[in-house]
Amino acid sequence: MLDTLGNMKRTHNCSELTAKDAGKEVVLMGWVQRRRDHGGVIFVDLRDREGVTQVVFNPEFNKAVHEKAHGIRNEFVLATRGTVAPRPEGMINPKLKTGEIDVMASKLKILNISRTPPFVLEDDTQVSESIRLQYRYLDMRRPLLQKNLMLRHRTAAAIRSHLNNLGFLDIETPFLTKSTPEGARDYLVPSRLNPGQFYALPQSPQIFKQLLMVAGFDKYYQIVRCFRDEDLRADRQPEFTQIDLEMSFVTEDDVMAVTEAMMADLFEEVLGLKIERPFKRLTHKEATGRFGLDKPDLRFGLELKDVSDIVANAEFKAFADVVKAGGVVKAINAKGRVDLSRKEIDDLTEFVAIYQAKGLAWIKVRPDAWQSPIAKFFSESEREALRQRLDMEPNDLVFFIADKPNVVNEALGYLRSHLGYKLGLVDHEQYDFVWVIEFPLMEYDEDEKRYVATHHPFTAPLDRDIERLTEDPLAVRSRAYDLVLNGAEIGGGSIRNHQVAVQKKVFEALGIDRQTYEKKFGFLLQALEFGAPPHGGIALGFDRLVMLMAKQSSIRDVIAFPKTQKAACLLTEAPCDASPAQLEELSLKVRIMKG
Ligand code: AMO
Ligand code: AMP
Repeated sequence: MLDTLGNMKRTHNCSELTAKDAGKEVVLMGWVQRRRDHGGVIFVDLRDREGVTQVVFNPEFNKAVHEKAHGIRNEFVLATRGTVAPRPEGMINPKLKTGEIDVMASKLKILNISRTPPFVLEDDTQVSESIRLQYRYLDMRRPLLQKNLMLRHRTAAAIRSHLNNLGFLDIETPFLTKSTPEGARDYLVPSRLNPGQFYALPQSPQIFKQLLMVAGFDKYYQIVRCFRDEDLRADRQPEFTQIDLEMSFVTEDDVMAVTEAMMADLFEEVLGLKIERPFKRLTHKEATGRFGLDKPDLRFGLELKDVSDIVANAEFKAFADVVKAGGVVKAINAKGRVDLSRKEIDDLTEFVAIYQAKGLAWIKVRPDAWQSPIAKFFSESEREALRQRLDMEPNDLVFFIADKPNVVNEALGYLRSHLGYKLGLVDHEQYDFVWVIEFPLMEYDEDEKRYVATHHPFTAPLDRDIERLTEDPLAVRSRAYDLVLNGAEIGGGSIRNHQVAVQKKVFEALGIDRQTYEKKFGFLLQALEFGAPPHGGIALGFDRLVMLMAKQSSIRDVIAFPKTQKAACLLTEAPCDASPAQLEELSLKVRIMKG
């Protein structure tokens, strides 16, 4: 028979008792982290979400309670009354917040028993993530996840309070809606009342927040779930959370200033860190040119240098031919890292191949000569030019990639990030924010053979580029901005097209014909005709932000119930079949088409 709570009331949590509480009678409740039997005296580490307190069951102090404590096992749920006692000299544990005291138990209630957990509930538990996700409620008892989720809560609370104080209104938008284009696949929900028709789960509240601006609700925000059916990675989930903002009568600078103040306030309040403002800004062109990526990590150097002009006529065909065909050759200098082994360089060559690079050429600058598979192809003047452009000094190791500009930038950009970590150049205590601005309004999608919006189709072009929309659409820059933190894209937004004529022009430049945009976005276009104010906003990836604040490398570690790479929930076993009755009700028949 298990005990009941009865009239026992918890007086303290498991992290707050100190030597100052000595002599107090307290009641603690929690789970058994560990039980040790030391020659007659039983020690239990009692754990709740705040921490751990050592409870002592001593037969000399209370014989009956000590007897009962023999039955305790890991993860049993206990309520215990006892007296706070300072630990004897030499027994103080400075690593534990409550390490100065013990609670000498005088009463014990076993509120529930537990099966032996399938893995050790400690931070450095050695078990596969799939087992942890299957037993997520146990996994979340680990101090690390408890800390992460509490940090997530404090972050949301700080953001809300900051925005509330500025007069932002929290307004909910529908989950059962029409597709909002953010460039990913939609999750569809069949409609029972409208057989054969589907809602889409929103990829973001984009259109609704714009409609709220038309409705006059200047300054909107929401901490809101978004749904995207895309290929998952460490920083992507099929459902994730955005801090979504929209404001009327604003320019880029206003939205950026609000975002910067919100981040500064948040970091100060939750992490006690001062964030420097204003944040740096890089144009998209500069970011990709110097760092290869549109989400540059500025915590270290290793900048990309274009050497196309120097190698254009070199004997090395792999370089010269690329330049002749309109490609580029760029390099990064890993200063002083001549020590990298052949094996390490081979691994890096495999790494850049992921990004379509056809090779990774390298030069080791030895004190007396260059050691390299390609050095022999360069003339003395080419060598001298490379030496100067790349600041090559003895003990440096230089990497080159030749290809189409976006392949070179992407492959070298990711190599740069990889080397930043591998070579220990990253300062893990630093939070480095940068805005990337002036993105191209659209890109050419090689797979779909058409123009697609770089951000989304409601983003406004730069005023001075509007004329080029028809003749040279790829040259049109947008009023979009991304917020990058330590090399991760944590937010994106833009000033929108509030005039219907410009919005239609953008649709047309994207190759969306009138009939299509009327059908898909007619309601938005109509709204813009009824006095839409100039407006713009941003959405921050809340999970990614918390992940970086918690210094985690996967957003799964800051989400209570995340999904796997295959978008499955291992705990509930979703997704799963629908019953014949459910399908009948929805007027649906399932036929699986084998790809
Ligand atoms: P965007 O599509 O750039 O903009 O999304 C904003 C931010 O959301 C985060 N994010 C994700 N996080 C986790 N998992 C995902 N699958 C995922 N996808 C995106 C990123 C990203 O920067 N409506 C626009 C915003 C606007 O224009 O105001 C939008 O959704 O951190
Ligand atoms: P190869 O001429 O194919 O033997 O290549 C000689 C060296 O140049 C090897 O280290 C290759 O990895 C490298 N290499 C070949 N093609 C490229 C390229 N497009 N970009 C960078 N390095 C390359």
